[in-house]
This record gives sequence, structure tokens and C-alpha cells, in this order.
Amino acid sequence: MLPLAAAALLVAAEPPTYAKDVAAILNDRCVACHRAGQAAPFPLTTYDEARRKARTIAKVVESRQMPPWPAAQGDADFAHARRLSDAEIATLRAWADADAPSGDLATAPATPSFPNEWQLGTPDLLLSVAAPFPVPAEGRDIYRYFAVPLTISEVKHLSAIAIRSNEPSVVHHVLYYIDASGRLHERTDDDGRPGLRRVRVNELKAIGGWAVGMDAARHPLGLGHELPRNSDLVLQVHFHPDGKARNVTLDVGLYFTSEKPSRELLEFQLPPEFGARYGIDIPAGEREYEVIDEWTTPAPIDLVSVWAHAHQVCVRAEAIATFPDGTTKELLTIPHWDFNWQLRYDFREPVRLPAGTRVTGRLVYDNSEDNPDNPHSPPKRVTWGEQTTDEMGSLIFNCVAADEADKPALAKSYVEHAVRGSRLGKALIERAKALDANGNKRIEKGEIPPRFRERLEKLDTNGDGAVSFEELDRAS
Ligand code: HEC
Repeated sequence: MLPLAAAALLVAAEPPTYAKDVAAILNDRCVACHRAGQAAPFPLTTYDEARRKARTIAKVVESRQMPPWPAAQGDADFAHARRLSDAEIATLRAWADADAPSGDLATAPATPSFPNEWQLGTPDLLLSVAAPFPVPAEGRDIYRYFAVPLTISEVKHLSAIAIRSNEPSVVHHVLYYIDASGRLHERTDDDGRPGLRRVRVNELKAIGGWAVGMDAARHPLGLGHELPRNSDLVLQVHFHPDGKARNVTLDVGLYFTSEKPSRELLEFQLPPEFGARYGIDIPAGEREYEVIDEWTTPAPIDLVSVWAHAHQVCVRAEAIATFPDGTTKELLTIPHWDFNWQLRYDFREPVRLPAGTRVTGRLVYDNSEDNPDNPHSPPKRVTWGEQTTDEMGSLIFNCVAADEADKPALAKSYVEHAVRGSRLGKALIERAKALDANGNKRIEKGEIPPRFRERLEKLDTNGDGAVSFEELDRAS
């Protein structure tokens, strides 16, 4: 591959023009969001709009800030990947450096049209969030939960889910959950506005999310999440005020599988339950707090997608497979975690993990001043919690058993893993060791503060009433 600078030199001989080279890239990669009424801050649909931004465009594509595609180029091949090629980046840079020549505008490719229709056709079930939600002109970002009863009288399988709003410019992302109790929609908040400020999401089943510019996509292989009868669909919506007060309505389109899927979509999280049992506890100022969890699959599985969830102190997320022969595959690496771009990454082809493959989920948190997204200034201790100012985190894997007959064994193994609790992260072990006030390399019951008790006491494997340093090291 040609280094970027050299590639830029080559094309510099004859500078690219808007009509011949640039418009096609912008149409293909940018205007889905950069057009009127969408969440991007300005349109890039005409020559003049693009020319005015030429230098900024070159800068943000070189830094890969745009288009938003947080995954690094790892070993896995993703469907719907939005990463620009090095050649496309070199073209945009050379165009900016040549002062953005237009070329013959009459020959420029037309801007694609985006009919205001459901991308996947008429939904099988259309749900509306009942009351408009008021988003003020200015102020902090708003995260709000809405529960909508799923009016289905029989079990369905959710193939895809799409969202539309009357005010798309302020709807930044949506996370979807299922509330099997079907009761959440009965709850109201005391602030008089529709929806709920907070919800115990770890009591819900997370089924993925949507962020600005993401296409609604059906699960591959005819798969779908099971929707129990009379459950609620729960949305966590991130509203981003954009200078004008708006009353936002949301329509959700659900697409079911045409028949009961022959294979069941299985989900596992590392660590389980968004890290609820992990004991996430990040001291103020800690720059490299690690959450890591591993599970070895007892039977072959086919991974269909992976995504990550964490809040704003998180800075990195990784999913890695270590095969029985010791070779590894980078399933997903998000080198700069961005809370606002939580995409689901669908593999172009399912990734087979043979029995005995170890799957690792790893998240890194930076709770120092250096993390520009840190919600606390000055930094303060952050523990696990539901609020966006708390933390959580896991890698979420969707898969099928290569052989459906293995499903019970897979479920048993994963549930055991989840119940036993995830592995202790190195950082947590260091801090656990620091609890040894009397320096005897044993943490006696009285030395364990309540927030650590549940996690630490079960590591007392020899039952002598204290957790020794050896017992701690064995848990890592
Ligand atoms: C998925 C939607 C989406 C796509 C695709 C997208 N953008 Fe953006 N862009 C945004 C949003 C939203 C912002 C506002 C900043 C933010 O939220 O990160 C933005 C901001 C920008 C900015 C301003 C950055 C700054 O720091 O001021 C530039 C320049 C930009 N985009 C260029 C591009 C170019 C060029 C492409 C295509 C190669 C592109 N964008 C593709 C959504 C998108």
C-alpha cells in the first residue's frame, strides 16, 4: 500500500475536481447525514457547501473523525462499513490543497435522493411514542427512556427495527430494550414530561441500538430477537439540543421475521449484564482502568454481530477471539470509544468460533482530566450505575450455535460464567490488595468495604474467612 503522503503526491500532478472526483465520495459517504434536516451540522450537497468546508473536510477525514465509524480496521470484515479508503482520503486532501477546484459542474453526479420513507418498507408493526417530548433550544444533552406496550398477541421475532422522528436533527441515538414484564409503560416521572429519566436497564433485555446515519438492517440468516407477548419496547433516546426548541415525536417501525427462525439468535456479554456484577469502581484520576472478561465456548458458534456499550469515561473497547491453536482474531477494536456512536457491527460473513475458542471483552476507562468526554470536572470516583455520568460496560456478541443441539450446553456454560461473576480486572485486584490494612497479605472480612463484599468474599475459595493474595491472583 502507498503511504498517504506519496499517494497525495501522485494525484497532485492533476488535482482532483469536485465534479470528477469529490462529489461522488461525498454523495456516497457523507450526505446521508450532511443534508438539510439531519443531525450533521451543515449540508455537503452542493459544490459551494463543499468548497467552503474543503480544509476542514480534509482534516476530519484524515483523523478519521468522519465519517463516524469508530471501529478500527481489524481482522474482521463488516457489512455496511463506512470507513474511507486511503485513496479517498488522499483525494479529499489533494482537492483541499488545490483550493477546491470545481471542474465542469454540469458533469457532477447528482445528489442522491432520500425519500422520507421507511428504508425497509412498511413496518409490520408501527409504534408511536405517545406524547411529543420537549427539547429546549439549548442546554445539556438529554437522555430519556420511553416504554411503549408491544401490542402483539403472539410471540414474534424481531428482524429489524427502524426509527423516524419529526425532528431528526436533535435525535442523536437510540438504544432498544425489551421489558418482559410489560409494566414499564405504566410508570411516569415526577417532572411532568413524557418518558422516564431513569430505568434499571440491567433488568431489561438489550437488543441493540441506532445512531445518527445508521441504516436499519435486518439480522442475517433470518434471525430475530424473540419478543414475548405483552412485553414493552423500551427506548433510551439521546436528544442533542441544536439551537431551536422542538417538540419531538418518535415513530418506531418493527420488522418481524416471516417465519419462526430455524436458528435461535443467542446473545452473550463480556462481562455479563453490562458489568453490573463486575464491581466497576474507577478512582478519580485513574487513566487506565481495565474491565476484562473472558469466556470459552464449549461448542462451535457462528458470530453474526458484535457491539459495545459503555458511557463517557470509557475510552477503548475490544473483542478478541483466541482459537484453540493459540492464534487470535481481532473481532472488534474501537480505539477511541465515543458514547455517541454506538453502532452494531454485523460481520459480512458469520465468524465461526470452534469449541474451545476463548472470547475476550475488554474496556479501558480514563477517569482523568485528559479525557475530554469525562462528565466530571474535576474528575471524581465513578462506579457502576445506570446514569450516563456513572459507568458500565461490556462487549455484546450475537451468535448462533453451529449445531442447534448444542444450545443447552452453550447456555449452561455462559450462565455459569455469568453467575460465578466475571474475572476480576487487574486494576481491581491491585485495589483489592490495597485493602490489606495490616499488611499480612490477607484481606480479612473486616477489611472489606461493603461495595467490594459481594465480589471479594466468594474468592475465599478455602473458606478460611479471608481472601489471600494467592486467591486474588488466581481470580485474575
Ligand atoms: C452518520 C452520519 C454522518 C456521516 C456519514 C458523516 N458525518 Fe460529518 N458529522 C456528523 C455529525 C452528527 C457531526 C457533528 C459532530 C458530531 O456529532 O460528531 C458531523 C460533523 C462534521 C464536520 C465538522 C467537524 C468539526 O469538528 O467541526 C465535518 C467537517 C464533517 N462532519 C465532514 C464529514 C465528511 C467529509 C463526511 C463524509 C466523508 C461526513 N462528515 C460523514 C454526521 C455525519
